[in-house]
Amino acid sequence: MEKIESLCKRRGFVFPGSEIYGGLANSWDYGPYGAQLKKNIKDHWWKFFVERRDDMVGLDAAIIMNPKTWEASGHVANFTDPLTECGECHERFRADQVDMSLPCPHCGKGKLVTPKTFNLMLKTFLGPTEETADIAYLRPETAQAIFVDFPSILNTSRKKLPFGVAQIGKAFRNEITPGNFIFRTREFEQMEIEYFFDPKKSDWNERFDHLKEAMEAWMKAVGISSEKTHAVEIPDGERAHYSKRTIDFEFEYPFGQKELFGLAYRGDYDLSQHEKMSGREMRYLDPETNEKVLPHVIEPSLGVDRALLAILLSVYREETVKEGDERVVLKFPKEIAPVKVAVFPLLKNKPELVAKAREIYDSLKQEWQCEWDDNGNVGKRYRRQDEIGTPYCVTVDFDSLEDDAVTVRDRDTMEQKRVKINELKTYLTENLK
Ligand code: GAP
Repeated sequence: MEKIESLCKRRGFVFPGSEIYGGLANSWDYGPYGAQLKKNIKDHWWKFFVERRDDMVGLDAAIIMNPKTWEASGHVANFTDPLTECGECHERFRADQVDMSLPCPHCGKGKLVTPKTFNLMLKTFLGPTEETADIAYLRPETAQAIFVDFPSILNTSRKKLPFGVAQIGKAFRNEITPGNFIFRTREFEQMEIEYFFDPKKSDWNERFDHLKEAMEAWMKAVGISSEKTHAVEIPDGERAHYSKRTIDFEFEYPFGQKELFGLAYRGDYDLSQHEKMSGREMRYLDPETNEKVLPHVIEPSLGVDRALLAILLSVYREETVKEGDERVVLKFPKEIAPVKVAVFPLLKNKPELVAKAREIYDSLKQEWQCEWDDNGNVGKRYRRQDEIGTPYCVTVDFDSLEDDAVTVRDRDTMEQKRVKINELKTYLTENLK
């Protein structure tokens, strides 16, 4: 874990937020490579679950919703963790994560007090006065807007059941014990789907299994190790208040096997709650039977930050190239690598090499995320690109001026190939698939 954290900070994938002011506990910023990697993960998910399917549509709703949403969903009453505190040092803990019969795990002396329930919703006030009437919440999940907007989505998309609605966006939770780098933070991003169906016409077990398989296929496509991922059935009594069946995909992080993503059968809990609270009809008119149906939902819920962490942990390798020559390489699937191609002039003080390399760089940049590097020797440049997982490096050398070809080096095999400049785009298009 330290190696991943240090690589992330050194190469600007992820670094501490507000660092010049001493940081803010557990807040992380995604630097240039991290921002691109995160975008690629979200784009891949959106393509996989929305654009390539004809039974899914997208949504991008407001983060701050009418607070009645959270009363109806049960979050105001039930979205709590048990909080305990040390009587001596006043360090706070989640009571379900510590042994209450032992002394404080922080100072080793104090007794832990009887747990209180602590609501995880982040509160804010809208408008110039901080009065109860102006309380609003930063959403703790993206899912609720999908339910609240269900009638508008039905009216405008004219989708027929079964179909899903997908959303990517920020969520906020006042976690008692955030930590383990980007694993648990107070501000994070989710990619969620609510898949609506008529329980009389569809077997929910089949839908559940189909979405489980789709999640597994997506995880494989973005490079999350299937050996390190385990689907764990959550037993009765331990599921969230709305769920009839839940599977947690757990990942073997260096700090233990913990939740990566979730898949839950929420029944009609949310739509019926919003129907009661708002007085608005949340039903689907079946065009075949003319009956009004309150759909049930299955919800795949994925954290973007946890996906990014699990991918980094799955693709990180330390390899011996030859005796005394080690490399660190991130073997990202090519589609999600933050930089696809790096272009080097062999020497930076030879204008004819620089001009030719620039021409190639400018042309490739129209198609892919590219990086220019003319610092140090080519061996060092390869190592730098390996560390950020760039699939291909293109070097313009003196022969290029004669034969109009370049050396293309493959990240995984480290093989080098001469490719004609006028065939380079075709070569890369085929190999970056
Ligand atoms: N709508 C259902 C829902 O929000 P959840 O299991 O509470 O379910 C879904 O959260 C996913 O969001 C988790 O599996 C995880 O990937 C991510 N997640 C939840 N809390 C998080 C946190 N504090 N920091 C980072 N990711 C988090």
